[in-house]
Amino acid sequence: MNSKDSDHLSSRLPGFYELPIGERVNLAKTFASLSDNDAKNLSQFNTISPELADVFIENAIGTFSLPLGVATNFLINGEEVLIPMAVEETSVLAAASHGAKLARQGGGFDATSSEPVMTGQIQLFLKSHVDFDAILVEHRQTLIDYANRGQDRLLARGGGAKALSWRHIAEENLLILHLDIDTRDAMGANIVNTMCERVSGLMPELFHCDIGLRILTNLTDKRTAKAQCTIPPQAFDSKEFCGKEVVDRIEKAYRFAFHDVYRATTHNKGVMNGIDPVVIATGNDWRAIEAGAHAFAARSGIYRPMTHWRIDGNGNLCGVLELPMAVGTVGGVTKLHPTAQAALKLLGNPNARKLSEIMCCVGLAQNLSALRALASEGIQKGHMSLHQKNLEMMKRQGATRY
Ligand code: MEV
Repeated sequence: MNSKDSDHLSSRLPGFYELPIGERVNLAKTFASLSDNDAKNLSQFNTISPELADVFIENAIGTFSLPLGVATNFLINGEEVLIPMAVEETSVLAAASHGAKLARQGGGFDATSSEPVMTGQIQLFLKSHVDFDAILVEHRQTLIDYANRGQDRLLARGGGAKALSWRHIAEENLLILHLDIDTRDAMGANIVNTMCERVSGLMPELFHCDIGLRILTNLTDKRTAKAQCTIPPQAFDSKEFCGKEVVDRIEKAYRFAFHDVYRATTHNKGVMNGIDPVVIATGNDWRAIEAGAHAFAARSGIYRPMTHWRIDGNGNLCGVLELPMAVGTVGGVTKLHPTAQAALKLLGNPNARKLSEIMCCVGLAQNLSALRALASEGIQKGHMSLHQKNLEMMKRQGATRY
């Protein structure tokens, strides 16, 4: 690589990935005229070693730290759980813990999950008129068996391709196959994509077609987790507010989100405030979880709140959250990242289903806590008292306050 100073102003840096990390940092430093201190901060390694960072991603120059905290008070299916959360937003941990404390007064959270079934899509461009229904019905099992070839370890654990379905997009004469695969404790993206690519190879023998995309869908609506809680109104009693009134206002806040997409978006951001930090702390793919969650929230054709709140006949507040939750506890970053490993241990080494249930409970707790504050004293009181520490730190560092 040519490392003349004048070249550094271009972001075109062929061979960057082959350089030692120190040289990558120096190039970035020169490119943006960074101070020695900036360069040092960009290139911090602690739990993730330079070798590991280089394995995780290309062009690594450092690692990025986030605060890691522990949310308290969670009682899930009768079990006490401490929740590791990696997040930069000041009030998230306190809010999750508070939501869990409220839920505890009604016995905590009940959580369930489906089998860990992911879906892969295969896009086929039909080139002639064929009775694809008849052909696929006849060959369905052969295709499933073919997908499972070479997946002995997954099959031994009870996983593997389980079902094949399809739909025709008439406007484009496209046939879309859906291959459902139980990936057990893996998130499973690689398993799904490998199987889809394999099965697609058989398609031209079955129909006159070209093969398009072969990729998992992140709308994993066959791999969901569900969390529920029922909380007596007294749990919401405070000096300033009567619990019954707060419960009533929380239910009305939910109805606002149900009927208004602007509010639903913020409501759902609050749900993901709880889920993403656990997904990150356990080394899982939070972009996949975000994409699936928002698509699921819009599955009726209208974007709705992810949680559902109602008041039962005894005046209790009842909450439910069900979301696609494709997370793993084996493989990839989950296994290699030392902090993710420790976070999973803190959670009692759950399998993937149990982890997805825990995450769903945290999302429900987080939403409950936000709605409680919004429906009573407002969000800023608690938020600003926590944020004050940030402001004081900024003042000490001489940073501009907006
Ligand atoms: C802030 O990060 C999240 C909230 O805006 C969520 C909500 O409004 O429900 C407080």
